Amino acid sequence: MSTPVPATFGSLWASLLPIGRDPGTGGYRRFSWTPSDRECRAWFEATARDRQLRTHADRNGNLWAWWDVAGADGNTAVATGSHLDSVPDGGGYDGPLGVVSAFAAIDELRAGGFAPSRPIAVAAFTEEEGARFGVACLGSRLLTGAIDPDRARGLRDGDGITLAAAMQAAGQDPGRIGRDDDLISRLGCYVELHIEQGRALADLGAAVGIAEGIWPHGRWRLDFTGQADHAGTAALADRRDPMIPYAATVLAAREAAVERGARATIGKVTAVPGAANAVCSSVRAWLDVRAPDGRTLEDTVDQILAAAEQESGANRVTLASRQESFSPEVEFDAPLAGRLAAALAGHGIGAPSLPTGAGHDAGVLAGRLPTAMLFVRNPTGVSHSPAEHAEQGDCSAGVTALAAVLRDLAG
Ligand code: HGY
Ligand code: MN
Ligand code: MN
Repeated sequence: MSTPVPATFGSLWASLLPIGRDPGTGGYRRFSWTPSDRECRAWFEATARDRQLRTHADRNGNLWAWWDVAGADGNTAVATGSHLDSVPDGGGYDGPLGVVSAFAAIDELRAGGFAPSRPIAVAAFTEEEGARFGVACLGSRLLTGAIDPDRARGLRDGDGITLAAAMQAAGQDPGRIGRDDDLISRLGCYVELHIEQGRALADLGAAVGIAEGIWPHGRWRLDFTGQADHAGTAALADRRDPMIPYAATVLAAREAAVERGARATIGKVTAVPGAANAVCSSVRAWLDVRAPDGRTLEDTVDQILAAAEQESGANRVTLASRQESFSPEVEFDAPLAGRLAAALAGHGIGAPSLPTGAGHDAGVLAGRLPTAMLFVRNPTGVSHSPAEHAEQGDCSAGVTALAAVLRDLAG
């Protein structure tokens, strides 16, 4: 086997950076089963092949690259990785940092002559953001059996295209999607490295951290239906304007979140038909709510939906609300987190542990195998924005930390 190409983090990063980047905003538009996704897949496969890693897509379209170990058949793999898809105009680090760091960590281990006694697998999960089909962590939910495959096949994007049709068009058979216990059984644990989506590490002056858990969170789709009318001639008293209860719900969401120490956001909304000189007939809005615990989340959502109902009634508008995605509270595996902390300490790396309000595939996999997360400092804390950024020095610290963890777990 020729010596694999040890690439620095920088050259790996530079090779992925241009894919799916919007030249106008500098943000990313990497949506599952689209041309930019196809380019990301080609990048993943080429990067794996350059390292003589066995690569394949599983039945759900999640990508895998295996550092196989001869004679270690019974040993389960140490898996790492993250996702390559983005929210619309997302930053370049959310997801890709974990995938690039995984390959760079393997380079670092090999350059140091490390030979694992357990396989190491790099994963890139599909549709983690749910930006196209509305359900977060769709690829890892399918893999673990956390979502019904028929429901998944029927999920539609904003143009009405189903997941099944999108996969078919990309040459992947949607008939095979679903839980893959055989693949899960070959994984011993999963460690995901991710840019921190917040500023806790910046405030603590630490380059790397360890996740404690993930807040419970969910997405609800709200449909306010009224009656289209003329903006100039329709008397205010006669209007059934869906924009009014919608606007009141945005403010009620903020109020409830402040009151209950939760986070509520409406960042996506469409008004139909969208004429500047007409009262619209309907407004569709997506509500994202997160809270430190399940009870607070439930109470916050109930309070917001009650306000939406009340404001709709007061404006003779009908409201239909449906939960599109829900992620229960996640406690990561304490012994595994402890082992990460010890491995890092052994390399003189102090890593504070912190909770997060951001969802991750690691949160879904935690239901099926021991799972942990490493966070890399985000100086501004900003994420899901073109302004998302991590310093190169901190990215390298993340690679070194991940390599130390993989050495410990797969040694
Ligand atoms: O929405 C989230 O928390 C994650 O970035 N998918
Ligand atoms: Mn994200
Ligand atoms: Mn992410």
